Amino acid sequence: MKKLLQFTLMALLVGLFSCAKEPLKPILSGEIWPDNEGVHVNAHGGGVIYHDGTYYWFGEHKSPNTSSALVGVMCYSSKNLTDWTNMGVALAVEEDESSDIVRGSIIERPKVIYNEKTKKFVMWFHLELKGKGYSAARAGVAVSDKPEGPYKFIRSGRVNPGIAPYDMDEQAQAEMAALDAKKYEKWWTPEWYEAIDKGLLLKRDMPGGQMSRDMTLYVDDDGKAYHIFSSEENLTLHIAELSDDYLSHTGKYARMAPAGHNEAPAIFKKDGTYWMITSGCTGWDPNEARMHSAPSIMGPWTKHPNPCVGPKAEITFGGQSTYILKVPGKKDAFIFMADIWRPKHPIDARYIWLPIQFKEDGTPVVEWMDSWTLDWFDQK
Ligand code: DGJ
Repeated sequence: MKKLLQFTLMALLVGLFSCAKEPLKPILSGEIWPDNEGVHVNAHGGGVIYHDGTYYWFGEHKSPNTSSALVGVMCYSSKNLTDWTNMGVALAVEEDESSDIVRGSIIERPKVIYNEKTKKFVMWFHLELKGKGYSAARAGVAVSDKPEGPYKFIRSGRVNPGIAPYDMDEQAQAEMAALDAKKYEKWWTPEWYEAIDKGLLLKRDMPGGQMSRDMTLYVDDDGKAYHIFSSEENLTLHIAELSDDYLSHTGKYARMAPAGHNEAPAIFKKDGTYWMITSGCTGWDPNEARMHSAPSIMGPWTKHPNPCVGPKAEITFGGQSTYILKVPGKKDAFIFMADIWRPKHPIDARYIWLPIQFKEDGTPVVEWMDSWTLDWFDQK
């Protein structure tokens, strides 16, 4: 009898301990984020996907002294968004000097999406050819059967050659065709703005395809995916539909905020409204975030005030947007993700992750928090 009592007590205690939940770890923006080996996560300008119960974080590997790609795109995995395991190099730079992604090229802002139809993971990224500065302005694409890779590089290039935006009617196309570049050599004049709006650079780049730099990807509820990138010398964002396999562009695209000089697009949808947070163009230096909304991903887009609130809100807390993660299983839970760049010591760049709050009228707000835990979303 005594033995039975002892056994029952033990069983109860073991049960109690195994039920006790581990406390959630805080998210500390701007600090060092050690991975499973205690090394600061090296996945910059990145994005996160959730697949079969695991989060995968993809981002640029940065080196101590250069922002050029010496390694490639890294992948980290996590079950809880705070404990990250280094899964290694998802897309590796190549040694062959004739490869577009040779070591020393520039690979920025990689994003991965999962294609339900093909069961493949598709990565798009901004690519600059080795030794050519930022002049190539290409989009690269790679594919893998597994989330963590290895990803097979398919190709890189400019986007949608020879194709006008889907909403540019014949008259607007004729007006674009009539623009004479020689008249608009001086930037930022009222005439220049008007010419950019009408497609001065779109026309210039029509034969070889549109420039593609800072970028993100978005998969809509109907499974259609979009590639959103800074085009036209970073002056205008393009929102371009991807093919069903997500490996190419369909040719349908819209322009957003011509001459608005937007970089670092990050997008989410809530209650049928698309929200996009972007930055201005100041190189590696932080600037004030911008916010835009639209009833359809193709627009029309309306500009809103800076969504950031708190210390250094006027410079996005020292960071630059990269991605907005919808947290699965929680209602209206979105995490704003940004990079604090360290151009003199790129490997030391830091991350900002903050929950998105919503005003009563539904407008998103990103408020600085020194420390927060994921159950913040449950306490709203
Ligand atoms: C700002 C962009 O957002 C970054 O991704 C990077 O391209 C830097 N400019 C380079 O100056």
